[in-house]
Amino acid sequence: MTALRPHPAAVLVRSGSLLDAAAGVEAAHDLLLEGGRVAAVGAAGSLDARAAEVAAEVIDAAGLTVSPGLIDIHVHLREPGQTAKETIATGTAAAAAGGFTTVCAMPNTVPVNDTPEWTRWLQAPERGAQVRVLPIAAATVGSMGEELTAYAALKAAGAVAVSDDGKPIGVAGGGDRIMQDALRAAALAGLPVIQHAEDTRLTVGCSMNAGALAFRLGLRGMTVEAESSLVERDINLVRRLRDSEKIDAHLHVAHLSTLQALDAVRAARRDGLHVTCEVMPHHFALNEEAVLGYNTLAKMNPPLRAESDRQAMIEGILDGTVDCLATDHAPHSAHEKEQEFERAPNGITGLETALGLALGILHRKHGMPLARVLALLTSAPARVLSLEGRGTLAAGAYADLVIFDPRCEWTFRAAASRSRSRNTPFDGWPMLGLVKYTLSEGRVVYRQNQSR
Ligand code: DOR
Ligand code: ZN
Repeated sequence: MTALRPHPAAVLVRSGSLLDAAAGVEAAHDLLLEGGRVAAVGAAGSLDARAAEVAAEVIDAAGLTVSPGLIDIHVHLREPGQTAKETIATGTAAAAAGGFTTVCAMPNTVPVNDTPEWTRWLQAPERGAQVRVLPIAAATVGSMGEELTAYAALKAAGAVAVSDDGKPIGVAGGGDRIMQDALRAAALAGLPVIQHAEDTRLTVGCSMNAGALAFRLGLRGMTVEAESSLVERDINLVRRLRDSEKIDAHLHVAHLSTLQALDAVRAARRDGLHVTCEVMPHHFALNEEAVLGYNTLAKMNPPLRAESDRQAMIEGILDGTVDCLATDHAPHSAHEKEQEFERAPNGITGLETALGLALGILHRKHGMPLARVLALLTSAPARVLSLEGRGTLAAGAYADLVIFDPRCEWTFRAAASRSRSRNTPFDGWPMLGLVKYTLSEGRVVYRQNQSR
């Protein structure tokens, strides 16, 4: 794969508290970064002699946590086609500010990324990405649900998964058969199928979670079953492939939001099926009450759910059912969000608030160890998508890292966001854990106070 730019100068990261769940390291360590990779990891002070010869920069990380760079396997970068909302350059700048060094770009761009050519285009240096962009290609041509795309060729071009995010595979169009075909073809190509689990026949005209609150607001609501029934259908297809064709398909459930769907994933795991899932920070930070006042900044799909579902997401994260976190960073322009609730588009930005919410809620409030929270944002997503050399800082891995102060409390200001869009419900929210530096493949791509 091509480097973002020519190799950066060597950097020594000195005396940081290294938290690398994949390598089992949790201690003060120095890191020497050379040629875009981790050249050496050693006890504090042990790399000074070698660094004195090669390192152009020394970052003093004393008192700070050094983690593998965060990995977000679910973002919408809007390029090509909707660059008024976001570009690869602005979206990845927001990623860097949030501590992310790898983002996986969903294919619902204009046009849809359904070819090896677009898949390569997204990764070209001309896009100006600040961090690594790994494309997720469309599962069906045009994401129309009728005809599979060329999975092996897409993988060869750099796609890390297939998905028709926003348009569930096998609801309209070719039905169960196309989803079964997608799972089979993806397994043969060695790719996961990422499913946006929503039975859209049950959600026509719906704009929030179903329940008493939707009734009070006069809005049509999406039921829990619209999500869980599709997760169950997909799991049955994975099981059928295993039992009748001995094919081990990998289903990854995107932005899971309900207890029922989580229970379906739990049961599939007990059955030995390769089913993984992700949960978004907004689904453990907020419940449906955030839409009160017809707040379109809290409108997304899947919608914010009942408090019991929010608690279930936290439970699923704590007990390990949830494989990883992801943001569903979905930028939209202000004028689009400033419409009636039912007309406003779904989605919120998320790259700059994920770490602060995860640390504040999962670590501080629910007592999850820092190393486990970080694993959900680093080694775990790397494992879900089989990303070699990422999610760890072992020698030889990509020099992708985030250096942050885990005790620092700060306030998120949407106006200071690096994203081109500001559609977040977290403006003014307290965050825990301040990103000081982000390095992507050995290059400093974010420094705190650079231009904030
Ligand atoms: O809230 C959402 N926004 N959910 C999706 O599935 C798509 C996304 C978008 O592209 O805006
Ligand atoms: Zn989606």
